[in-house]
Amino acid sequence: MPAQTLLSKIDKDRIPNHIAIIMDGNGRWAKKRALPRVVGHEYGVKSVRTVAETAAKLGVKYLTLYTFSTENWNRPQLEVKAIMALLVRTIRKEVATLQKNNIRLRTIGDISALPKEAYNELQEAMELTKNNERMDLVLALNYSARWDIIQTTKKIAEMVKSGAIEVASINEELISHTLNTGTLPEPELLIRTSGEYRISNFMLWELAYGEFYFTDIYWPEFDQEAFYKAIVDYQKRERRFGKTSEQI
Ligand code: IPE
Ligand code: IPE
Ligand code: MG
Repeated sequence: MPAQTLLSKIDKDRIPNHIAIIMDGNGRWAKKRALPRVVGHEYGVKSVRTVAETAAKLGVKYLTLYTFSTENWNRPQLEVKAIMALLVRTIRKEVATLQKNNIRLRTIGDISALPKEAYNELQEAMELTKNNERMDLVLALNYSARWDIIQTTKKIAEMVKSGAIEVASINEELISHTLNTGTLPEPELLIRTSGEYRISNFMLWELAYGEFYFTDIYWPEFDQEAFYKAIVDYQKRERRFGKTSEQI
């Protein structure tokens, strides 16, 4: 279906506020073309650009992209180095566009453990775009949900230890706010590309009631049409949050 037709099917009043994406399949996309995996990551950047621009135009307020997981350090060191270099190059190149489009760059994950150059580039871009309000583009870098749960648990334990809170006052709200994702609303929609049906340590807490959308398309081929399709599908769902259909 052409992108324009799909767009006409989207209810502009029910656009998800927060969309999270597990961008997967760069390596297989490259392999299919007998190209090095790194070329797949480079083409993946094009999809990031398309999706960020399209999301902002639709009125999405938060777009979170799973860019590098804590487990991704276990890849061949050459690939890790190439991904970090690509990150630096991309931010350097795109920061002006983010600024022009009024998009704020943010991160989740422990970015202090990234190579210095990547860390500095991110800090600079975040500082420059910090007052932008149209959409938050959140890169999950050196992120995993279990890492976040562990660091949150430690923080809460310290609060109890210091007497700042009682054990009895630990509740959903406190945990949600203490998580590194604490200032983000929970994603209504999670998209995963490349035909894998798993969550790979991403936002385990925050996606408790998120809607999942899977597509076989490899990330470098994920375009406007594919993105619209995911939103159209999302808008057909009935979100019940444990209630019955009649109660909705
Ligand atoms: C996603 O593509 C990008 C990252 C995880 C950094 P992959 O590199 O995982 O691609 P596949 O899954 O091997 O095809
Ligand atoms: C998930 O993709 C992480 C990112 C997209 C950054 P992976 O390719 O690392 O996930 P698995 O290994 O297939 O579960
Ligand atoms: Mg993968």
